[in-house]
Amino acid sequence: GKHILVTSGPTHEPIDPVRYIANRSSGAQGTALAQALSGLGAKVTFVTGPAQVPPPAGVTVVKVETAKEMLAAVENALPADAAIFAAAVADWNVATSEQKIKKDAKGSAPQLSFAANPDILATVSQLTTGRPPLVIGFAAETENVVAHATAKRDRKGCDWIVANDVSAETGIMGGAENQVTLIDASGAEPWPRASKEEVARKLAQRVADHLA
Ligand code: CTP
Repeated sequence: GKHILVTSGPTHEPIDPVRYIANRSSGAQGTALAQALSGLGAKVTFVTGPAQVPPPAGVTVVKVETAKEMLAAVENALPADAAIFAAAVADWNVATSEQKIKKDAKGSAPQLSFAANPDILATVSQLTTGRPPLVIGFAAETENVVAHATAKRDRKGCDWIVANDVSAETGIMGGAENQVTLIDASGAEPWPRASKEEVARKLAQRVADHLA
């Protein structure tokens, strides 16, 4: 019966009407998490970017494309008993051309102009009113995973952070398995590599125990 907000998938940041910038997130971990929480009896609001896997049944699905749309959908979905930010949000958006960018006669490459996206996890973690009692981030790292994720938890102000190594050789981003380290105020707990469904069930149970 608890209301839990989950973000999932990549975001797409448009360049022009036919092109966008994205990342390799499939949405598999966030989807498995929403499913596991729903299986434990939570009311789940699932805010998802354009993912490769379909959203789970039995949850409220809100589909978005960009980071800014994801932030608006998240703010609209609050209040919540817990919020879990599994989405791989683009850090920058592009000044979008209204018309398709055309090649010029000289064959020169276009210059894209980037601006920082809002940080959705940090925004919700630092709310002074209406902050969910439990806020959980993910940390996608390719080196010094636990150190970087611990610093990220401190910087953003979330309660727990789920760190994973998304280096190409791990096959985690876009793959079927995950190896995570759960970091909270008391330290870092490495979990064995397992299917994303199994990691999701374990994390969902931790959340349930915490809220109970
Ligand atoms: N996140 C977010 N909004 C953003 C960027 C990230 O809500 N604009 C969230 C992600 O959903 C995740 C956490 O912040 O829960 C960390 O995301 P990650 O990509 O690991 O880190 P970044 O904040 O992008 O930092 P960096 O690129 O420096 O590693």
